Amino acid sequence: MGARGPETLKVLIRRSAIQKRVREVAHQITRDFKGQRVHLIGVLKGACIFLSDLVREINLDTSIDFIAVSSYGKGKESSGQVRVLKDLDSSIEGLNVILVEDILDTGLTLSYLLRVIEQRKPKSLRIAALLDKPSRRVKPVKGDYVGFTIPNEFVVGYGLDYGERYRNLKDVCVLTLSPD
Ligand code: IMP
Ligand code: MG
Repeated sequence: MGARGPETLKVLIRRSAIQKRVREVAHQITRDFKGQRVHLIGVLKGACIFLSDLVREINLDTSIDFIAVSSYGKGKESSGQVRVLKDLDSSIEGLNVILVEDILDTGLTLSYLLRVIEQRKPKSLRIAALLDKPSRRVKPVKGDYVGFTIPNEFVVGYGLDYGERYRNLKDVCVLTLSPD
């Protein structure tokens, strides 16, 4: 990558709005699975902050695990060829699984993950995504629990990165790269 000019951050979703919405999503999950256990699987690394906040607002018997995947593609685009870098620690057979993602973009990564996880015979399988960019969808993947639907902008913060940076921002921000 060549030299770049300044990176500009503009707040898209404030911390307070994220907190409120995460609580609402968690309450919805609590209602939907009343009296049952849910097993949250976070897709590393982007989902780690969303999952951490979400699970603390779910008022059920819970357990968590993580999976890490890499997608091969030219440049920044996801190719749909996905490789598992870190697999689950334990069996999910018979569990109510909620796959937790930072953002649903093309859907290529999630459609692969859904296939992998479905093969392991969970009792049920749902998707929770903090953000959804439906305009970018290539595969017909639908989030069951979506925090916010956003326009086709590149965002960082609250777990989302640009080259591993900015995951620590408390707000979700639009990142603009100015040419130098
Ligand atoms: P896809 O749905 O297979 O295209 O890939 C989704 C993954 O791409 C997410 O888990 C993110 O890691 C990454 N991604 C997609 N859009 C953004 C964005 O706007 N900011 C940061 N990462 C993104
Ligand atoms: Mg990423």
